[in-house]
Amino acid sequence: MEKLNGKKINIAIFISGRGSNLNSLINHFKKKNSKVLIRLVVSNNPKARGLIYAKRSKIKIYISNSKKKEKLEKMLLNKIINQKIDLICLAGFMRILSRNFIRDFKKPILNIHPSLLPKYKGLNTHKRVIENKEKFSGSTVHRVSPKIDSGKIILQKKVKVSKYENEKSLEKKILKVEHKLYPKAIEKFLN
Ligand code: GAR
Repeated sequence: MEKLNGKKINIAIFISGRGSNLNSLINHFKKKNSKVLIRLVVSNNPKARGLIYAKRSKIKIYISNSKKKEKLEKMLLNKIINQKIDLICLAGFMRILSRNFIRDFKKPILNIHPSLLPKYKGLNTHKRVIENKEKFSGSTVHRVSPKIDSGKIILQKKVKVSKYENEKSLEKKILKVEHKLYPKAIEKFLN
């Protein structure tokens, strides 16, 4: 990541729903001496519950929900450039960014995924982990590349899957880990 001579690093966080990772990132980076500024929250869903955290902290919100993907990404990219965003962090963003968007942004994009990548890419990870009777699962923060859930891994944290685990309990366990993992991974990436 390019050094910005003491200037803050402007981050945009993309969400689609609950936004608990967004909330933990806001809380983490609001420290006075933080070198990160969460400048924009993007949601493809105007009703995303997580938008409340952005509103509460007076962070700008951009709703990106046009039906035409090409037009949507063009407008989104304009917004991102206009806001001088240095880094995009996907946090429960359930849309796939196109190869063109990733290329044209030119700067890094990170994602958090609730599994021990490269295992369990894609959707319904907890369900599949339980069905396969895995002993461990976890979460991974990685670079976004055009191939889904496949970019370079920045940090990963394991959790134990207990005998009595169900989807809900595993989701809860992993979310708790993610709330510490994502801020840590961003700091690692920026250092
Ligand atoms: C998180 O567990 C995140 O890892 C996952 O969605 C959840 C969002 O929760 N992301 C993906 O599945 C991406 N493929 P949140 O909205 O409460 O932060």
